[in-house]
Amino acid sequence: MTVQLGMPLLPSSARAATVDRPAFEGLRDRYGRVATDLRLSLTDKCNLRCSYCMPADGLPWLAKQAVLTADEILRLVRIGVDRLGVRELRLTGGEPLVRADVVEIVAALRRAHPELPIALTTNAVGLDVKAAPLKAAGLSRVNISLDTLHPETFAQLTRRPFFDRVLAGIEAADAAGLGPIKINSVLMRGINDGDGADLLAWCLERGYELRFIEQMPLDADHGWTREGTVTAAEMRERLSERFRLSPDPRARDGAPAERFEVRLPGCDEVLGIVGIIASVTEPFCADCKRTRITAEGKVMSCLFSHEETDLRDLMRGGADDDDIAARWQDAMWLKPRAHGMGHVGLGAADFVQPDRSMSAIGG
Ligand code: 5AD
Ligand code: SF4
Repeated sequence: MTVQLGMPLLPSSARAATVDRPAFEGLRDRYGRVATDLRLSLTDKCNLRCSYCMPADGLPWLAKQAVLTADEILRLVRIGVDRLGVRELRLTGGEPLVRADVVEIVAALRRAHPELPIALTTNAVGLDVKAAPLKAAGLSRVNISLDTLHPETFAQLTRRPFFDRVLAGIEAADAAGLGPIKINSVLMRGINDGDGADLLAWCLERGYELRFIEQMPLDADHGWTREGTVTAAEMRERLSERFRLSPDPRARDGAPAERFEVRLPGCDEVLGIVGIIASVTEPFCADCKRTRITAEGKVMSCLFSHEETDLRDLMRGGADDDDIAARWQDAMWLKPRAHGMGHVGLGAADFVQPDRSMSAIGG
């Protein structure tokens, strides 16, 4: 590309920053972290109402014009990958399969980035039909949310009677070759906190990798409490009633999940791996490699960030790639050091829950 007057084009990092920061390549922050893992939300809508995320009546959804178009998504991913060092992409929501053009978006992303790992986080409703087309379009793998194996508990927790559809979705994803299948479970006290060992046995039998996630204060109802949080330590203790867990000798490499090899008591055979993501009690902020873009095109440097940087209106206003890259870098430069909810016991006194729920940020 050339500019008028024969001037050499400045690299994106040298474009005027709107925040006080040095010029650099990539998505760096003030604490030395470099974000290479992009989580991009395709929609804020969802067909479930998990109580740790959404209120029973749903949320006021974004207007269609507010949501990034497929072309805008492609452009942002291209800028991320070609200029800013993004090496991995995860498509999230809300529920990304609710978006009618999800298969076309994956196919276009794959054509543009033949080598990029592209994963999708889904609740698996509708995946029975979409798994094979998504695989054919070039999707690499899926993470699926499943918190219980009891249909009634599922209906209570998600406020929808879709348990069988979710199981069908998981099976279809496995059959389509979207593995290794990872299952995400959030345990809630008094609802499904007794379901952990059964979920683990079920995943081990099928070769799925289960990861338990500590419940974070990202529910739209603001009902999260420290006491209600089933901690990683508690999860390990409950699982140890049936299984023997030992730390996975492979390096953790900044991954949020602490991984354990799973054996039956008295047996040497490793049955599989379980991950425990202690976002609240043992935060991994120091190793975070993530940058997030919401369905309406706002960069969020952290799930718990109170700052949002809009890229959509920049694009719609005719900004060039250099400007968009520079604004994205500005946003990431200000990424907070840590979320602060785990610093005093279970949750710092001064922790302020963000206004957005998980579904409105992108998981
Ligand atoms: N705490 C922890 N995990 C959550 N998820 C949604 N809301 C929360 C929360 N408040 C999980 C979902 C899904 C992933 C995207 O995030 O279970 O697996
Ligand atoms: Fe939907 Fe996921 Fe939120 Fe559940 S956690 S309501 S599946 S967006």
